This record gives sequence, structure tokens and C-alpha cells, in this order.
Amino acid sequence: MCGIAAYIGKKEGLPIVFANLKKLEYRGYDSAGVAFFNFPDDELGINVIKAVGKLDSLGKAIDGHRSLPATSAIGHTRWATHGVPNESNAHPHIDCHKEISLVHNGIVENYKELKVQLTKLGHRFRSQTDTEIIAHLIEEYGFDQALKKIVGAYALAVINKDEPNKIYFARLGSPLVVGIGRGEYYLASDATALAGLVKRVVYLKDGQKGTISLNGLKMGRVRPRIERLDMDLENAQKEGYPHFMLKEIFEGGEVVRAALRGRLFPKKNLIKLGGLESVEAKLARINRLEIAACGTSYYAGIIGKMLFEDFANLPTEIRLASEYRYYSSPLHKNTSALFISQSGETADTLAALSKANSRKYLTLGIVNAVGSSIARETVAGVYNHAGPEIGVASTKAFLSQLAVLNLISLHWPNSRKNKRLLEELALVPSKIESVLKKSKSIKALARKYARYNNFLYIGRGYNYPAAMEGALKLKEISYIHAEGYAAGEMKHGPIALIDKNFPTVAIVMPGRVYEKVISNLEEIKARGGPILAIAAQGDRNIKTVADDVIYVPKTMESLTPLLSIVPLQLFAYYIGVARGHDVDKPRNLAKSVTVE
Ligand code: M6R
Repeated sequence: MCGIAAYIGKKEGLPIVFANLKKLEYRGYDSAGVAFFNFPDDELGINVIKAVGKLDSLGKAIDGHRSLPATSAIGHTRWATHGVPNESNAHPHIDCHKEISLVHNGIVENYKELKVQLTKLGHRFRSQTDTEIIAHLIEEYGFDQALKKIVGAYALAVINKDEPNKIYFARLGSPLVVGIGRGEYYLASDATALAGLVKRVVYLKDGQKGTISLNGLKMGRVRPRIERLDMDLENAQKEGYPHFMLKEIFEGGEVVRAALRGRLFPKKNLIKLGGLESVEAKLARINRLEIAACGTSYYAGIIGKMLFEDFANLPTEIRLASEYRYYSSPLHKNTSALFISQSGETADTLAALSKANSRKYLTLGIVNAVGSSIARETVAGVYNHAGPEIGVASTKAFLSQLAVLNLISLHWPNSRKNKRLLEELALVPSKIESVLKKSKSIKALARKYARYNNFLYIGRGYNYPAAMEGALKLKEISYIHAEGYAAGEMKHGPIALIDKNFPTVAIVMPGRVYEKVISNLEEIKARGGPILAIAAQGDRNIKTVADDVIYVPKTMESLTPLLSIVPLQLFAYYIGVARGHDVDKPRNLAKSVTVE
């Protein structure tokens, strides 16, 4: 997720913008930059400074300029989407004559066709980004007309040489907030950056645009709706949620949407994955896949194996990354190895990747942290674009990983994709959001079950790994013993544990194994075990066996874990809170496990 910061007022703008970018650091980024005017020496035009990597690198680069009285400045932290993280792709971007400079958060979906048109008109481009197009569009058509030509999403802050005392802004689909101080104005991607600086803000709505200048905030005919901002930094980052974990669970729909955006085209029965373009020809020769990952990413990987075998007809092995490096498996030809990691820095996964690279396998990554070690050391891959995950328990990353695994397996050469499945995949984000609306009743159920000290989570097929992930969530943040099991295995051992004090959480989705799971539940019920079921809307039968039911919308079988895991994340969260634990920082755990 990119971050935008801008300032206009009587103070020095550059240090303010830099400090505000720092506050947006939690959104994640791979490069950053600022643009500003050097008053009074403004014939020098717009100054642009950029740096790759940590904000401190940008800090060092702008150090020499801090004493200049730049009273207006725009800044940006970039999370790469189009084009690798380097200085030319970092924002701010400029037009042909360096008279317009802008920062952008969002995506210009029609950037390729716009680029062709602008090139014909004589514009020359310096980066591979979609954003640079906007600078040239404004140069060619002016601010208002340029916005009309963009298909996609944007939050924009723009400065231009002719009006150095003004910053233009606009929002469509990507967040942008205006901060109103005393004779000074700010722009920021979220209120986090403004906490402690201003008491009044305008949360811009889609389609709103305007300017900030020393003469005030102007939004055409729209009367800005000014709201009070009473937040400290941490609360601002949590956006009103009591914990990052809950905020991130509630981002579930949005992260899946972000993973599918610009990649999934159901009407054309098409999936486009820019990150795999360079290896498309090699993929066609692959006849065997290995997936390796840890923890939550590993559970996503098990679902990935099922997807690859089901849809791409590709024999796939799934390995715990911590075992992979020590396992002396035979060397295979035409093998690809896929590594899944939210942080991109997990030591075990990195070590497994290095083994696969040394075997000359075609290594691929599904990584959330852009520019991380795993992203760099794999030959190709697909980013999650889920934004930073701060809660130690992985939640939104899991959903995003499943979305990307669906995309890759359905995109694989000769895969069995069909329009209906792609249409159904496109509906998943709103279905996740409808599950999230049930949070109150899930909270009540969590309170009811919080007293138990052992749980069994069961599921079959695609929902067996979801059951293991649900159990992991409960273990991590509530410190309750929970085991994830394939429902069919109950009778081979674990059923011995069942009594009235040992509840079972069962995922019972329509599909090939529905009846089988019901039979497994009958066996549990006969032994007095309490049952909480996650079932599909309209399933009345489930009420005859389960004590409690959480319904999720119906979907196609391979997509069911994307919905069934959401109530399990909420259930674990609310039990952790009910037990008084620090759910964002569970004991003994670290967000990024960089040791073996
Ligand atoms: O960053 P990674 O996805 O590589 O991390 C892997 C595991 O350490 C991680 O999923 C861990 O299991 C989480 N705490 C799960 O909530």
C-alpha cells in the first residue's frame, strides 16, 4: 500500500512531509520520494528526491535540503505494483518538462492504452509505472480533464510550477484525508499521519477533488465535511479497531479484492499475472511442483496443492519449509518450487528456497512484503499486495495467499479454468464482507466457548487445511490447546478425546465430502461432544447435529476455505480477548521468524 503526505503552510514543508511519511511507514513500502519548490528561488522549478529502501535512505538524501524554506511539499512511500522498486519508478513522478509533479496511490488500469496515446502526442516516459501517465495526462489536458481519462483508482497530490502556492488533490477508490491546521493544510493517505498535528480533517469521498493553498481548502461546489480528529498515533493506525488483528481480519474482503485487481477478468475467462510473464514459456515445460512454507503460509500451501492438482493437473508436493532443506528427496527434472511467505523473510523458507535454487528448479514466490529476501531470490512470483500485516497472528495474508493460489493454479498452462469459476472468485470479496457482518454473533459464541481448554477443529478436502489454520489461530492468541484434524481421521484415534468438555469446531461445506463430515459429526455427538459448525447458507440439516452454527455464503467447493476461515479468525480473536490476552503480540511469538 502506498502512502501519501503533503503540506502547504508557513512552516518548512519538507521535514513535515518526511515526518508524516514516517508515520505511514506501517503501511509498508519499498521506496520513497518527495517533491518541493525552493522558495524564493523558484525559477529552479520542482525539486524531486527519491530513494530506494528504508525511509532513512530518503532522510539522508534530503538532509541537505532541509534548511530550504520549501513551504509546500508532497511525498510518497511506494509499494511496487507496476515496475520494480527503483528510483525511476519511485514517486513523485514528473511530466516532460518537470513542471508538474505528483504522488499517487491506486492503479491506472488503462495505463497501457493511455501510454500509447501520449507517446503518439510526443510524451516521453522515464519509468515503468502507471502513475507517470497521470503527470503527462495533466500536462496534456489539465488536471480536471486528465482525471476523466483515468480508469482505475487514485488518491493524488499534485504540484505545478505555474501555481507553486497550491497543491491539487483528488480521490477515487484510494483513501485521502485533508488535515486543516491554523493557516496550514495537509494531505495524507490516512489520518494516522495527521494525529497530533491537526484537530480538523476532511475524509475525502470518491470523486472529490480540489486544492489546498494558503488561501484555504477549495473543493469546487462541494462544501467540505469537516470532522474532529482526536487520536493518538497508535489508535490512528488501528483506524478505530481495538487491535491490529481485528482490523486485519476486517480487511479480508479488501485484500482479496486487491489480489484479484487487474489480474482476474471473468468475462474474458482470463487471468493475467504480470509477475509470471517472464517465465510463461518455462511454466509450460514444468511437470511437477513443490510448495514449501511455514505456519499459516504452509496451510495455504496445502490448499494450493489441491488447487494445482485439481485445476492444473500438476502433480504437487507440499512441504514444511523447515523440513525441506533436510529432506533428501531425489532431484527431479522440469520441477518448479513455489515458496509462500507473508514477510518474505522467514529463515526456514529462505533456506528451502536456497536449496531449490541450488537444484536449478524454477523457483516462484507468493510474497506480501515487496522487495523482501524471498521476493528477490525467487526467479518470478506474484505479490499479495495485502498491505502490511502487523498482528502476529496471520489473518488477512492467509486470505490473500488463497486468492493468489487460485489465480496461479487457474492461470497455469492448460489449466481447467472456466468463466463460472472465475466469476465466483470475483464474488469472494463481497461474500467475505457479508461474513464479517456476523461478528457480533460470532463474538457471543466465542464468549460461550471461551471456558473450554481443548478444541478439535475438523474439516475435509479443501477445508481440512482451513481447520488446521483455524486451530492454529486459537492456539496462538488464546493459548488454548487446539488440534486441526481431517474429519475422516477422527475414528482412527482423536475421537477417544471427545467428551462434554471437548468441543469440536467443524467446517461442513457443500461438496464431495459433505455427507462424510456429517457422519463424523454424528459420531462426536453420540459421545456428548459440543459441536460448533461452520456451514453454508441454507443448510438446515446441520442443525440436527451441531449445537451452534455459523453460516457463510455458498460458493464453489475450491473457494470455500476463503469463506470458512473468516469466522474462525473472528472466533479465535474474540476468545483471545475474552481471556484477556494481548492478541496482537502473543507470548513467545514474533511476526517475522528470521532464525531457524
Ligand atoms: O511470513 P511467513 O508467511 O513466512 O510466516 C510464516 C509463519 O511464521 C507464520 O505464518 C506464523 O505461523 C503466524 N504466526 C501464523 O499466524
